Amino acid sequence: MAGLTGVWQAGKGEVGQAVKVALDAGYRHIDGAWIYRNEEEVGEALQSASVKREDIWITSKLWNTFHAPEDVEPALDESLKKLGTDYLDLYIIHWPVAFKKGSNNELDEKLTADPYPTWQALEALVDKGKVKNIGVSNFNIPRLENLTANPLKYQPAVNQVELNFLNPQPELLSWAKAHSLLLEAYSPLGSSKQVKETLGRPEIKEIAKKLNITPAQVLISWHVQRGTVVLPKSVTPSRIKENFEVTALPEDAFAKVEAAATSHPPQRVVNPSKGWGLDFDVFDDYPY
Ligand code: A2P
Repeated sequence: MAGLTGVWQAGKGEVGQAVKVALDAGYRHIDGAWIYRNEEEVGEALQSASVKREDIWITSKLWNTFHAPEDVEPALDESLKKLGTDYLDLYIIHWPVAFKKGSNNELDEKLTADPYPTWQALEALVDKGKVKNIGVSNFNIPRLENLTANPLKYQPAVNQVELNFLNPQPELLSWAKAHSLLLEAYSPLGSSKQVKETLGRPEIKEIAKKLNITPAQVLISWHVQRGTVVLPKSVTPSRIKENFEVTALPEDAFAKVEAAATSHPPQRVVNPSKGWGLDFDVFDDYPY
C-alpha cells in the first residue's frame, strides 16, 4: 500500500506545508504521534484541505507516559482535539515501554512487562467508536507473543517498525504474515543519516537506471511488494511527489533487492534504550 506520509521529525512550520503538499500529491495516510508535538499543525493542515475526513487515514500513537489504563483515553482525547477530528483510523502503542505518568522516563516495570491492561484500554476506545483500529509499534517477536497470548478482543492490526534496506527484518516480516499482522515501515529509505548510503547502493542504482525510476522509488516499490505499509517521511515537495509515484518492480528486480538487503548484518539506527536510561535493550532483550 503506498500513498502514505510520516510526519516524524518534521519541524514546526514545515509539517503543515508537508501535509498539504502530500494531500495534493494524492497521499491519503498521515502518520503522526503525540510525541512529535506537531499534531495541532497537522490538524490545521487537514482542516484547510479540501479532502473529506472519511477519505483520509489518520494514525496517532500513545506515548509511554500514558500506558496506565486510566490515562489512555485522555491521551487520545488530547490528540483528537489537536488533530481536529473525533476519531482516529489507527491508534498504536508507540513503544513497548511504559513510564510512570509525569515522570522523567521512570520505568513502570509492571506495565512494561505486561502491556495487556494498556491494550484493554485501547480495545475500549474501539468499542466507543473513537478509534477504528489499534496496533503497536517497535514490538519484537517475543513482545508480540507476550501480548497476543492474552484473550484479546481485538488483535493488533499493525506493528510499525524501522524497516529498510539496511534493517529488513525478514523474520519479523514472516511472523507478521503468519499472524495476519501488517508491518508498517518507518524510515523506509533508511534513517536520515543512512539515506544517502542506501540510495547510492550499486544494486539499487542499477535497477533504478534499468527501470528509469529513482533509487527511492525502487526501495518504496520493494517495500510495497514485500506486503508492508510504507511511511516515507519528507518535507521536500519534490521528494514527497517522487515517493508517491511508485510502480511494481519486475520479479527479478524485486528478488535482487531482497537478496541484497538480507545479505548483510542488520543495522538498526532508532533505539532509545540507552537515551532513556534503560538497563535492557528494547529490541534485543525480553523479558528485561
Ligand atoms: P527530507 O525530509 O529533508 O526531504 P527518517 O524517515 O528517518 O526521518 O528519514 C527520512 C529522510 O529521507 C529525510 O532526511 C528525508 O529528507 C529523506 N528523503 C525522503 N524521501 C527522499 C527521497 N526521495 N530522496 C532522498 N531523500 C529522501
